[in-house]
Amino acid sequence: MRHICDECFGPVDVSYDYGAINLTRNSFHGRVKSLWRYKELLPLRDPGKAVDLGAGYTPLHKSIGLAERLGLKKLYIKNDTVNPSFSFKDRPATVAVSKAIEFNLKAVGCPSTGNLAAATAAHAARAQIPCYIFVPSDIEPNKIIQASVYGAQVVAVKGTYDDANRVLTQAADLYKIGVVNVNIRSYYVEGSKTLGFEVAEQLGWEAPDHAIVPTASGALLCAISKGFEELIEVGLLKECNTKITAAQGAGCAPIVEAFKKGEDVITPIETPKTIAKSLAIGDPGDGAYALRKIRDSKGYAEDPTDQEIIDSIRLLAKTEGIYTEPAGGVSIAALKRLVDDGSISRDESVVCYVTGNGLKTPEAVASQLPKPIVVEPEIQALIPILSR
Ligand SMILES: Cc1ncc(COP(=O)(O)O)c(C=O)c1O
Repeated sequence: MRHICDECFGPVDVSYDYGAINLTRNSFHGRVKSLWRYKELLPLRDPGKAVDLGAGYTPLHKSIGLAERLGLKKLYIKNDTVNPSFSFKDRPATVAVSKAIEFNLKAVGCPSTGNLAAATAAHAARAQIPCYIFVPSDIEPNKIIQASVYGAQVVAVKGTYDDANRVLTQAADLYKIGVVNVNIRSYYVEGSKTLGFEVAEQLGWEAPDHAIVPTASGALLCAISKGFEELIEVGLLKECNTKITAAQGAGCAPIVEAFKKGEDVITPIETPKTIAKSLAIGDPGDGAYALRKIRDSKGYAEDPTDQEIIDSIRLLAKTEGIYTEPAGGVSIAALKRLVDDGSISRDESVVCYVTGNGLKTPEAVASQLPKPIVVEPEIQALIPILSR
């Protein structure tokens, strides 16, 4: 199981014999409504043996209320909050855990900012193999509960995500653990590229003009871009001129900072400080690749503040009925900034990726919401409220 190139020590990628893949738009009629519908472009020898909880094929929600507010004609929300464990991380997890089983590994695990923990634990439960989750000790309590309830062993590391990553990586080879985002990472990222496939399919086999991606390690952003590129390789897309934009929370935005300063090297953030804890990776493993994708595609990078993120969570919920965790608030806030400064124009088709469910992080908004009005159980008590 090789995950790093022996010569340059860079990550290894899965490649496919695109010429041998025979797919047309009609191939997808009647296929399973999960990401395994793209099985020819996923790295499992026998897709019939996938550890599948139904991740993927989530709604591409055509915005009305938010689009009107922002003055956009074609705004779409890729609503990945409705995956089996309520974040997009079910996509890489289904592929990585399936691959771990194919490799005959006896346990899986991951360092996580929270969402991958739940996704890996859920798929490990489905596969009935042990699961070890390493998280920074300050992540949102609901995320620890969620991983634990699936039966995983959760280890809260006194430190940052990068500390959790380092200790688990050291233990992985020693204890033969398939760490989904470390030694099975090459396969793991393949699951996320289906977020490119689905958007193109849902837009009638077209790539959007602009995609806004909440970004931590940079893996998701690179994977979405790979998804569009592969559809061109196999002839399902004619062209792709999608500008790809990274959105990170101020306080942990190393990729955005490098982009804005015009630098190629990413300076790690030692102590991340953002309400978007799921994006709080100070030393992004795929940061340099993500930076190149953003620049090559003529995209942007934005780093909204905590208050902009909270306002955006509420705005999305009120205008579209979609409740996101802070990571999704980061992409909506970045969208808002880019519309306000004229970088995104009215006629462009824009897909905003909303990747995690708000029920995981109620504490992010709770203190800023109006309190319920407490009344006596009598009709008279309602008059001042309902006749306002
Ligand atoms: C909800 C959510 N969105 C986006 C991301 C960013 O993913 P990546 O680390 O691949 O950039 C994460 C990472 O944990 C996440 O949890």
